[in-house]
Amino acid sequence: MPKKRVRKSSKQDDVVPHSSKWKKSKKSPVNPVEEELQVSLLPSRRKKAKQSSVNSDDACFVGEPIPADEAQKKWPHRYTKNDESSEDESLKAKFHYREAKVDGILYKLEDNAYVKGEEGKEDYIATIVEMFETPEEEQYFTAQWFYRAEDTVIKDHGNLVDKKRIFKSDVKDENPLDCLVRKINIVQISPDAAKKKKIPPCDFYFDMKYNVPYLTFSNIDNESETSTLSSESGSNVRATDKKGVKEKSTQIKESNRPEWTLLDLYSGCGAMSTGLCFGASISGIKLVTKWAVDINKYACESLKLNHPETYVRNEPTEDFLSLLKEWAKLCDEFVLNGAESTDSDLNAAEEAEEKADDEAMDDSPDSEVFEVERLLSICYGDPNEDEKPGLYFKVHWKGYDSSYDTWEPIEGLSECKDAMKDFVINGYKEKILPLPGQADFICGGPPCQGVSGFNRFRNKNAPLEDEKNKQLIVYMNIIDFLKPKYVLMENVVDILKFAGGFLGRYAVGRLVAMNYQARMGMMAAGSYGLPQFRMRVFLWGALATEKLPSYPLPTHKVVSRSVIPTEFEEITVAYSTNENCQLAKALNLEGAINDLPPVENDDSDDERSYGTTPRTDFQKYIRLQRSEMVNYSADSQSAPSGMLYDHRPLKLNTDDYERVCHIPKKKGANFRDLKGVLVKENKVEWDPSVERVYLKSGKPLVPDYAMTFVRGTSSKPFGRLWWDEIVSTVVTRAEPHNQVLLHPEQDRVLSIRENARLQGFPDCYKLCGPVKQRYMQVGNAVAVPVALALGYTLGLAILGLSDDSPLTTLPFKYPSCLARSLDVVDDGSS
Ligand SMILES: C[S@@+](CC[C@H](N)C(=O)[O-])C[C@H]1O[C@@H](n2cnc3c(N)ncnc32)[C@H](O)[C@@H]1O
Repeated sequence: MPKKRVRKSSKQDDVVPHSSKWKKSKKSPVNPVEEELQVSLLPSRRKKAKQSSVNSDDACFVGEPIPADEAQKKWPHRYTKNDESSEDESLKAKFHYREAKVDGILYKLEDNAYVKGEEGKEDYIATIVEMFETPEEEQYFTAQWFYRAEDTVIKDHGNLVDKKRIFKSDVKDENPLDCLVRKINIVQISPDAAKKKKIPPCDFYFDMKYNVPYLTFSNIDNESETSTLSSESGSNVRATDKKGVKEKSTQIKESNRPEWTLLDLYSGCGAMSTGLCFGASISGIKLVTKWAVDINKYACESLKLNHPETYVRNEPTEDFLSLLKEWAKLCDEFVLNGAESTDSDLNAAEEAEEKADDEAMDDSPDSEVFEVERLLSICYGDPNEDEKPGLYFKVHWKGYDSSYDTWEPIEGLSECKDAMKDFVINGYKEKILPLPGQADFICGGPPCQGVSGFNRFRNKNAPLEDEKNKQLIVYMNIIDFLKPKYVLMENVVDILKFAGGFLGRYAVGRLVAMNYQARMGMMAAGSYGLPQFRMRVFLWGALATEKLPSYPLPTHKVVSRSVIPTEFEEITVAYSTNENCQLAKALNLEGAINDLPPVENDDSDDERSYGTTPRTDFQKYIRLQRSEMVNYSADSQSAPSGMLYDHRPLKLNTDDYERVCHIPKKKGANFRDLKGVLVKENKVEWDPSVERVYLKSGKPLVPDYAMTFVRGTSSKPFGRLWWDEIVSTVVTRAEPHNQVLLHPEQDRVLSIRENARLQGFPDCYKLCGPVKQRYMQVGNAVAVPVALALGYTLGLAILGLSDDSPLTTLPFKYPSCLARSLDVVDDGSS
């Protein structure tokens, strides 16, 4: 038997007779991870085969050709002649067929089949959508490919996904007929069947499609697309889904905006959820941050101050997840299942308890008796710091004031079922914690410090075993437990750079394995109206019952400076270069902060009056009071009119302050402008002709660390920002020794408020904690307008108003969109 042809291999030119041809073809899932982004984005530049294709005895068409008029109607590009200028390089056909026989197996159009893979690798999977003979009598079929999980962005984490689950693609290309190996049974299943793991007997099944743009896994809801495929439940499933979305959107409009609940994990001071809720509100959806979790107590205080409506939990997410599981059991026991049935037990227990108490009192007349009056709160962890982690309740004791409240382990409260029952019933009613299905949306950026370039001990071989990356697993486990309708994960671009994007791929793999639709995009803060280049990765997830949200296209013209791994560069959210779009001019430092009153290095007022008027639209709208903003509810806190918060800088020590006073007030100024420093070929050296200058304290004006920073090549130490600039990122530490953060015209670092402006926080967002902690909260934040834009596209998805496109144009700009009275229209402000 002649050797089977291998479908395509760019690496195996010697094995593949048509290597020159296949190498040019970009449209195949072969070696897809390396090529995936070019795969179907680029037009096929395939040249005509040089050698003749097959006409082996083992592969031939069967039956009469399809009548010419029918074939020409269905595949017109196969029958038109290419003129010189035409970009159409498709193979031409003499005849089309409905059936072919390869190695004795009869294949029909729309059959699914294995297609010969590379030597030693698994065969590819495709649907045969066309069979034709070229004028040169070569025999071809067109394959519409399916991806295995490992052929998608998920790559090395393919093991997370069921082996039999594959993903339909729109990618099609032509292959020699004798690449067909054997027929296979592929069934389309409904998302519901996938969830319930009700899979009919088959070789493979699929419930989603995979599209390379924005690495998108999404529902298959195009009727015509699947009508040709063998399917267990077929188009009925899709019809119901569509109807579901439609019904929901009408319902929402009619029922006076029901509340959508958001759980903000790793919430920090709440910038991300604040932005998301603003954006959702603009779209017409009432999204409320019902719960937030962060390990940093000051960040929690800030969030609570600005969002009194939120249950803010200051604890590690690991403990939060354990608590959620315990809470679900308690609700089961006291509310959902056993409430009634335990009544008599409870009475009996009560009597026993009272009797025991009486006896105890009789036995020891002098002993102090503590009686539980009520339970105040619940946590999982080690609140007494005695290394006994577990489930605890905070107890208020009868006859004692709240200074005597203590955390008691659940085991010690077995006699207090009534108090526990009251607490659980109330907590259940108030939703102090989400039960599975109760959080509609989870957002958050699990810290992955193990990927940071600053971390010298990065574990490249097993990034998930690094304790510093563990939060990604915890985050996904919380999603798995709570099963929200929507998920938005934010992270640093490093998760796509480090170890070939291992962690980013893992995140997608986990979502898809949990039957979420998913897509990934990168967004730059400056593109949404801020003077900041910061770039972040955002991963959407949506249950199969929901519409997958899109990414909001930029509103402002800012060229991103972030170095993006080439493999992922196509997921940067941007207009394509040839698109004619009206982007607003980028905002610079001047437009963002030059209305703020001058402050001194040692100013320590947390509140002051503006004493100035806004000079730009940005400044006008960023000053809005809470009550003037969209999404305002009466219980939201509002800054007293005219007060400016957190406009104070980190106080530099006397030496640094003296140094900063010597830095000229001009563009590009830094320590290199100080006396005694020479710059040669962008490297600093001491000027031998100048005696070293000393400060009042006796320390040198130019510190050694500035001269040696990045081997003398950095101009960052004591760098001054200038009015026309855009900052690379807003930092978490206001440290002038190795960062450019001096005010253009004042001898100090940018104040907390100035940094907050660069992150898009409205001025009324007041922060808590020591100065350094407030800088940290601001630097850690997701830029508010970026989150807002995503909240808007989420709202569109909830309303069923988004189509399949991964991108949406925004009808507003930040921050004018914050204004309550403003209609959702572009007022042209920038
Ligand atoms: C990048 S910040 C989040 C910023 C936030 N999304 C915002 O927009 O303001 C990451 C947060 O994770 C918190 N964090 C780190 N480890 C944690 C853990 N194990 N459990 C809970 N929070 C944690 C940090 O305190 C920090 O506030």
